[in-house]
Amino acid sequence: MSDTHLLTERVAAVARDDTPLLDLRVERKRYDGRIVLADIALQVARGEIVCLVGPSGCGKSTLLRIVAGLDGDYR
Ligand SMILES: Nc1ncnc2c1ncn2[C@@H]1O[C@H](COP(=O)(O)OP(=O)(O)OP(=O)(O)O)[C@@H](O)[C@H]1O
Ligand SMILES: [Mg+2]
Repeated sequence: MSDTHLLTERVAAVARDDTPLLDLRVERKRYDGRIVLADIALQVARGEIVCLVGPSGCGKSTLLRIVAGLDGDYR
């Protein structure tokens, strides 16, 4: 099998993969006892483009830190 054929097969397999890129549940995130995120369910599909929009202090960076694995202190 040629390299090109293998690559084509690999690209097709990735395209068929419909498992979510991200599947996150955050029940509660607290800072110093204060709840800053609650009842978050975020799924992102492969190839999907998602914007996180909200007023200053609503928790966008907090959520992104959790998504990036920088903050595991939540449930
Ligand atoms: N390290 C921290 N310790 C305590 N409280 C924090 C900490 N980081 C964020 N907070 C608080 O958590 C809440 C969410 O903050 P966050 O930075 O996630 O908001 P944001 O949506 O990213 O805001 P901005 O649009 O200004 O960047 C705010 O009330 C903020 O003061
Ligand atoms: Mg921010």
